[in-house]
Parts: sequence; structure tokens; C-alpha cells
Amino acid sequence: MSVLDKEKNLPHFSVRQLALRNGSDREEIWCAYKGVIYDLSRSRLWKNGKHYEHFAGQDLTAEMADAPHLDTVFDKFEPIGLLI
Ligand code: HEM
Repeated sequence: MSVLDKEKNLPHFSVRQLALRNGSDREEIWCAYKGVIYDLSRSRLWKNGKHYEHFAGQDLTAEMADAPHLDTVFDKFEPIGLLI
């Protein structure tokens, strides 16, 4: 099954549901990138939902432009949902 097929079957979450997974309201640490939600809870670099000057629980697509890395950083994280 391709990545795109896998993504088609993912559950949808709203901006408000995503916002709760910011590492302080709930334990889960999620962020959205290009419409796909990733669970970053196991990353040591996203402790408490904070990554340098960036915060989980939101769509960080635009902020990737400020990063010193490519979006390949998401490769090792399974997409867990789609942002409505
Ligand atoms: C000031 C901006 C940023 C800095 C200085 C920064 C720095 C870093 C560094 C040094 C790493 C580890 C080395 C690497 O994988 O290249 C990393 C990993 C990562 N970054 Fe960023 N980053 C920034 C912005 C962002 C943004 C905006 C996002 C999301 C859109 C993001 C998502 C990630 C992810 C998912 C990882 C992988 C974490 C892991 O492997 O545990 N970063 N970042």
C-alpha cells in the first residue's frame, strides 16, 4: 500500500482537536504538516510540545521555511491523521 493510500484511510481531526495535543493540555504531542498530522510524542526534540521556537498542537507548514532541515524529518514518524 502506498503512503497516499495509507493517508486516505486516516481519521480526520479539527484544528481544535489538534490544539489539545500541544504537549500541555494532553500528553500527546501532535503537529500538522501539509494537511497530515504526525505524532511527535516520542521525539526528544519535541519535549513538552516545544521545538526551538516552534510549538506543537498546530499546523506548522508555513514555519518549515524557517527550519535548518528539510521535511524529511517527518519520514520516521507515522502519519496518524488528517487535518480537516
Ligand atoms: C528555528 C527552527 C528550527 C530549528 C532550529 C530546528 C532544528 C532541528 C534539529 C537540529 C533537528 C535534529 C536534526 C535533524 O533532524 O536535522 C530537528 C528535527 C526535527 N524538526 Fe526541526 N527545527 C526547526 C523548525 C522545525 C519546524 C517548523 C518543524 C515542523 C514543521 C520541525 C520539525 C522537526 C521534526 C519532526 C524533527 C525530527 C525530530 C526527531 O527526529 O525526533 N522543525 N529540528
